[in-house]
Amino acid sequence: MRVHLDGPVDVEGFRREARRLLARQVAPHCIEWSCGAADRDGATGSLWHQPASGPGPDSGGTPGETEALPPPVRVPAEFAALCEKALLHAEPQRFALMYRLLWRLQHEPGLRHDPLDADMLRARQLAKAVQLDIHKMRAFVRFTRLADDRHVAWFEPAHHIVEANAGFFARRFAQMRWAILTPRGSVEWDGSALRFGPAADRRERPPPDAGEHLWLTYYAHIFNPARLKLAMMRREMPRRYWHNLPEAALIEPLSRQAAVRSRAMVEASPTAPRRIRAPIALHPQPPSPQAVPLSLEELRAGAQACRACPIGALATQAVCGEGPLAPGHMLVGEQPGDQEDLAGRPFVGPAGQLLDRALAQLGWPRDSLYLANAVKHFKYELRGKRRLHKTPGQREAEACGQWLDHEIRLVRPQALVALGATAARALLGRPVAVQSERGAWLDERSDGLPVFVTLHPSALLRLPDEERPAAWQRWLADLALARMGQSRP
Ligand code: URA
Repeated sequence: MRVHLDGPVDVEGFRREARRLLARQVAPHCIEWSCGAADRDGATGSLWHQPASGPGPDSGGTPGETEALPPPVRVPAEFAALCEKALLHAEPQRFALMYRLLWRLQHEPGLRHDPLDADMLRARQLAKAVQLDIHKMRAFVRFTRLADDRHVAWFEPAHHIVEANAGFFARRFAQMRWAILTPRGSVEWDGSALRFGPAADRRERPPPDAGEHLWLTYYAHIFNPARLKLAMMRREMPRRYWHNLPEAALIEPLSRQAAVRSRAMVEASPTAPRRIRAPIALHPQPPSPQAVPLSLEELRAGAQACRACPIGALATQAVCGEGPLAPGHMLVGEQPGDQEDLAGRPFVGPAGQLLDRALAQLGWPRDSLYLANAVKHFKYELRGKRRLHKTPGQREAEACGQWLDHEIRLVRPQALVALGATAARALLGRPVAVQSERGAWLDERSDGLPVFVTLHPSALLRLPDEERPAAWQRWLADLALARMGQSRP
């Protein structure tokens, strides 16, 4: 009996056919499995007979599609997971192997407890290889930015993992429009949905972009010749991935020079750290002039699309302020944090909760204030899966200043309260030493709006426990003065 599946990752088709075959008691050795021509592993898709009535066992009798599906086959949960992974392997015999195991599980109940069964061991090997390939794809996909701001990557997976891995990339690069082209199928993300396409050809590989040059410079700089461990490097970054990794071209020359460089490092006399150079602009073209937003909706849309600095591309969304129009006070923080970035609202994370407590203690309703930030996107550093807050640089705060200025113009507050140094600098246009200038109204803005400077709530969260009560009282006193429009006497 010949069974033809729709394609190399037609797991659903395999499940359906396996149910039918098991219900009919068709023994594994009577079946030849094949799958659609998209399978490039020599699974002989085109040589196999393809049933005219679509997928289904080609054994005569009623075509598969019109048959009622027999009841599901019962298998241990871990076997179902193993099966889903192993079926993505490039091994042409994977369908036969997994059907044989399904069959045997129905007829040999002891099989699940046999740790040395050859079929079971082989299935585990396949699943493990697929899992490793999934992991490597996550680590080694390198996107290239195209002129229209789409990002494209070329990758050559060993197995049929594109669909299984697509969700990871959609979550990780949710804000980007990207495509990953592979010889086993392609996937595209337009910002809201994934689309799968046919296999791509190596010639469609995108050419290197400016980011690649930057990446190679970075890679060469962080390469530490004194810590070179080639065997471990090859284990982590197997050679089969090298031809698609731009940095791999540097490994050989850097390794060759490693011994000489580390000897020179040992022999050299100590040096003082070099001055940190100004960051290199990641966006070679100047940002296009933004239209002046005429409403807060336009402001939000403009900030959302803004790429005047690199952090916008990494954040989930721009977080503009919230609160009533023409309020007495507009409180300005630094930038959204992790929770604000996800919620799209300012001051909802730990710093916001502390601010809420202070306002509640002062009887100052939060909804009478407009709460905003100097920088509209969340800047962070990835540490494992955690996104750790990074203070925005001066260039980023300046690039974002236009949105804060528009927000102040549209909201029309009577006074501004700067929470912390970033906000104070953004509102006053000069560096501010918060500890010495806090608690006072400053009259320096060209639009005449007074600015009151105090601490950012995160500064209190960072204090040692013993210093916190006094700092809290002093911060409350600052906020009370700000509310009354007075300076510290
Ligand atoms: N810190 C800020 O400055 N703003 C927020 O919205 C949250 C934390």
